[in-house]
Amino acid sequence: MVCLITGGTGLVGSFLIEMLIENSYYENDTCRVITRSSESIAEISRSGLDAIKADLTDRNSLKKALKDVDVVFNLAALATDWAGWNELYKVNVEGMNNLLEACLATNTDPFLIHTSSTGVYGHFIPSVPIDETYKFNPTSIYQKSKYFQEKAVWDVYKENGWNNFSILRPPSVIGPRDMKTMFGIFKAVYERKFPIMRNGKGYLTFIHPHDLCSALLLIDEKRGQAKGKVYNLKSFECKLKDFLDYVVKKLDPPKLPKHRNYRLVYAIAVLSEIYAKLTGRHTTLNRYRVTKFALSRRYIDQKIKEDLGFQPQKTMEATIDESYEWLLQQNLFPPSP
Ligand SMILES: NC(=O)c1ccc[n+]([C@@H]2O[C@H](COP(=O)([O-])OP(=O)(O)OC[C@H]3O[C@@H](n4cnc5c(N)ncnc54)[C@H](OP(=O)(O)O)[C@@H]3O)[C@@H](O)[C@H]2O)c1
Repeated sequence: MVCLITGGTGLVGSFLIEMLIENSYYENDTCRVITRSSESIAEISRSGLDAIKADLTDRNSLKKALKDVDVVFNLAALATDWAGWNELYKVNVEGMNNLLEACLATNTDPFLIHTSSTGVYGHFIPSVPIDETYKFNPTSIYQKSKYFQEKAVWDVYKENGWNNFSILRPPSVIGPRDMKTMFGIFKAVYERKFPIMRNGKGYLTFIHPHDLCSALLLIDEKRGQAKGKVYNLKSFECKLKDFLDYVVKKLDPPKLPKHRNYRLVYAIAVLSEIYAKLTGRHTTLNRYRVTKFALSRRYIDQKIKEDLGFQPQKTMEATIDESYEWLLQQNLFPPSP
């Protein structure tokens, strides 16, 4: 069997590669990883996997990468809210179309496991948990690009009945090696800049990369049951207050977050975005971040549990512990002033 991994050099992909190497299931199989970087090619090759240069925006490179492939773990994306729409469209939307086209043109008819995001539901969802039938309502341009990725898959399904795929919708990924979310949270709490809004009553939902990769491998193992389906998944959900209390406990001395008015912080975020746009500067305070930590985001993950027997392993405490340990090991914490 030949499996192809896109995004293998990213946060989630690095866990998947580790698990593939550890997992004897893949002992006799070929795992091929695509990357755009020559340095990563050398590094991946050293770990014993096949590495080839390919780019989602380059159709021919994808066609070569797909040769003889049986299963595709699709993790590659511009996974950021900071890029412009043109870039997001080129990589995430056109890139997804290119990948789909290459999958459909390959005579091995590879099974596509696509990593989408709960972002396809948008920022403003009901405070009660939602399942996979909830409407698409992406808010940010990154979420819109993730929606268009999924749409491309569903369009082929509707047009010609092709269903050799599965889609996973993970929430925010946090854990060791995560510089996007956990580093920022620890830093902001340490500097007492992390506001606690609405008394910390809002629910957060996260997934540890290890759980996400376990789900990817489970889908591959149970392709028959997972075929043509989409799944929410998560490691845990918790109230912002409980999450921050646990983060604070890791710090010595503990630094308690300050309570702030949600509407006021939201208004400041709007101004901060306008200022960033006018000056071409980057801002970490935006509406997305404010709503993410003030309002509830809850997702029902019953379907993947019932269909495939998926059981997440990582608790809130374990995820925060591991993240903190990693930051310490990397000398990233305490942050430099
Ligand atoms: N992180 C989260 O909180 C989160 C939440 C929900 C869903 N997701 C989804 O999960 C997936 C993995 O996210 P991540 O956080 O692991 O991403 P990441 O760390 O930012 O890594 C992105 C990966 O995409 C690859 N890539 C980017 N542009 C490419 C292109 N033009 N052609 C080929 N490869 C390209 C990069 O590979 P090279 O640079 O080596 O080429 C890299 O391996 C993404 O699809 C993301 O949308 C992430």
